[in-house]
Amino acid sequence: MIIASNLKTNLTRSQTTSYMMDVENFLEKNTLSQEILVFPAQSSLSAHSGQVTQGAQNAYATTNGAFTGEIGTEQLEEFGIKTILIGHSERRHILGESQESLVTKFNFYKNLGFKIVYCVGEPLDVREQTDEVMMKYLDLQYEGIDTSYENLIIAYEPVWAIGTGLTPSLEDISKIHLKLKEKSTAPLLYGGSVKVDTAKDILACEGVDGVLVGSGALAVENFCKMITFAEEAGK
Ligand code: PGA
Repeated sequence: MIIASNLKTNLTRSQTTSYMMDVENFLEKNTLSQEILVFPAQSSLSAHSGQVTQGAQNAYATTNGAFTGEIGTEQLEEFGIKTILIGHSERRHILGESQESLVTKFNFYKNLGFKIVYCVGEPLDVREQTDEVMMKYLDLQYEGIDTSYENLIIAYEPVWAIGTGLTPSLEDISKIHLKLKEKSTAPLLYGGSVKVDTAKDILACEGVDGVLVGSGALAVENFCKMITFAEEAGK
């Protein structure tokens, strides 16, 4: 399975370095076969070698140039980063990234062979409508995305569940995942308020190939416990 930690705008560079080291030490002591991804804040990216894959939470579709506040592949290459998160709901809804700009970004990084964790998810007002309306909303987030890209991972993250402590029922998670799996055979992660005490059940759900965790993974020991749960799930 794939266990990913999205550190968002948290932890300094030195805190991130010790976070990565703690995960590496944990993996060294325990023989585990899970794929582990960590997405540090941009200013906390650094050279890293080990079992943990470091990814970028965002980057612009460029090598370099005049894009104030953005980074491009020149900055990612410095640290050997070949993994990127695209379409996170905070980028869609807070930072206003459109589907069109996400597709441009997706294609740019796909052409470079990056591993792409592409996020989809519906806001509460959509969730409260029929399943059909919700699936139509999610369909639009797949528009323009090459769902058969070999280095693609998809994360289903309901917007209303992110950072709120709310999660869909386990039945709903399975139901939606199985529906989304009809669109792509890429590994499908669940994200949105996954906590150390809910991760085990979520990882066991049919159609769930891993989790993308924000606040619940900020304490490294909790993130490591989730890795153990994934191993125990034996998928
Ligand atoms: P959360 O964030 O676990 O804090 O809800 C998940 C995410 O945004 O990826």
